Amino acid sequence: MVQSTAIAVAAAALLGALPVNAGLYSKGSPVLQLDGKSYDRLIAQSNYTSIVEFYAPWCGHCKNLQPAYEKAAKSLAGLAKVGAVDCDEETNKPFCGTFGVQGFPTLKIIKPGKKPGKPIVEDYNGPRTAKGIVDAVVEKIPNLVKKVEDKTLEKFLAESNDTAKAILFTDKGKTSALMKSIAIEFKGAISVAQCRNTEKEKATMELFGITGFPTLLLLPGGKEAQGIVYDGELKKDPIIKFLSQAAAPNPDPAPSKAKVSKKDSKKESKAKEEFESSSSSQASKEGSTAGATATEEVLEGEATESPIPIVETEKPVDLPEPPPMIPALETEEELIATCLGDRTATCILALLPESPDITGAQAIISLSELAHKYNQRKQNLFPFYIVMSQNKGYDRIKEALKLTGNSQIIAVNGRRGWWRQISETLSNKDVSIEALENFVDAIRLGEGAKQKLPAGLIPKEPEEAATATEEEPAAATETMVVEEDREEATQAETHDEL
Ligand SMILES: *[C@@H]1O[C@H](CO)[C@@H](O)[C@H](O)[C@H]1NC(C)=O
Ligand SMILES: *[C@@H]1O[C@H](CO)[C@@H](O)[C@H](O)[C@H]1NC(C)=O
Repeated sequence: MVQSTAIAVAAAALLGALPVNAGLYSKGSPVLQLDGKSYDRLIAQSNYTSIVEFYAPWCGHCKNLQPAYEKAAKSLAGLAKVGAVDCDEETNKPFCGTFGVQGFPTLKIIKPGKKPGKPIVEDYNGPRTAKGIVDAVVEKIPNLVKKVEDKTLEKFLAESNDTAKAILFTDKGKTSALMKSIAIEFKGAISVAQCRNTEKEKATMELFGITGFPTLLLLPGGKEAQGIVYDGELKKDPIIKFLSQAAAPNPDPAPSKAKVSKKDSKKESKAKEEFESSSSSQASKEGSTAGATATEEVLEGEATESPIPIVETEKPVDLPEPPPMIPALETEEELIATCLGDRTATCILALLPESPDITGAQAIISLSELAHKYNQRKQNLFPFYIVMSQNKGYDRIKEALKLTGNSQIIAVNGRRGWWRQISETLSNKDVSIEALENFVDAIRLGEGAKQKLPAGLIPKEPEEAATATEEEPAAATETMVVEEDREEATQAETHDEL
């Protein structure tokens, strides 16, 4: 079957008119959009831990991850940075190449290293859920909060003795993500410590006259002489304001050293705003979500230090092309021979009117991704085709099956004489790759109601070409195939391999 150039062009124009190739994250998203340059300044140079997603806008698993990733970004606001790089963008390809990105989405946790600008990069292979991501990132937030007790107090106060100090007196042994982020914010400017309320800290508490917990004490001169007790809420913004009387927090991202265009500095201040905008709301949640999972110490030395990813614009990288669009059946004869004959097996048909709605066009993209995925796994599944209104068979199907509405996706089996549809009309329906896969799986499993094909839709005389179509596996085999899939699902299906 030859794909009609005319239809391909029409469909490509239609798809091109949609914002399908725009990045997944809009301007208002809590996820920072990164490229090679901004990565270096916002992520690599930061004292904060970050997570960066390398994605392609056409990748189904990337789209599936988007809501969870944005949710994670909201939860991590003010505690860690959450960014994304569109590797489909021509100018980003070398950058994605330096990270050895092999498939989409690829998630990497980037932790500040010993030297500024040389962060430690690790793959994140945990669950693609907001909680999984938040937990993993929180665990990697550097812990610059020192523990002090009676034995170590003197040493703590003597260390960089003219640097301001802040001590949190608390009942808790663990360091919260909030305190870690405060210590990062004031790294090099204020030494932050935590003092637990046990016998071992009794003298220290007496020295500072601490009776209630938690109490945050600021020693602006760095020595015990003049302490100021914080009486506000344990939230990031007011604490930063309070501590700022002793020393200014670090500017993150650091101000540009040389010739930064106005545009760039605008971008950066926006990035800073975005990072901090929700930090106050975050701080209140911090105790219950991120803070609850914060671990005592961040393990050091478990990953190798990555070189500064130098953006080599010349170096070509092989990144995947978007999946090929599913083919169209141009003529009625082709339609009958392939899907509407009395010996043809199951076909999925996307019926598109001359001007399909956006949902219809998106369904084609999802179907294309799905077909691509099955192809790559060398899985022989029923074929997917586009049938546009130019095809005479289009009207005949719509009439015979009494289909109304704009675009439709149906499954049809001429040999067994059944058909079914994903829904009455696609408008406003979920046409994600997942939803369509569920539809396909239901057909494979024989779940859900099938409808009898009305007489007359399938021509009585078998067409010559009908014999050329794939045989549908028997029902028992179908079930087995599906079960194999389920097993595989845990590994293969979470990643769009190249
Ligand atoms: C502070 O430290 C410096 C050297 O690091 C030392 O010379 C000075 O005596 C110290 N001051 C106090 C009050 O301990
Ligand atoms: C990181 O911390 C250092 C102190 O160790 C500080 O001088 C620098 O400004 C911080 N960088 C950023 C980007 O906040």
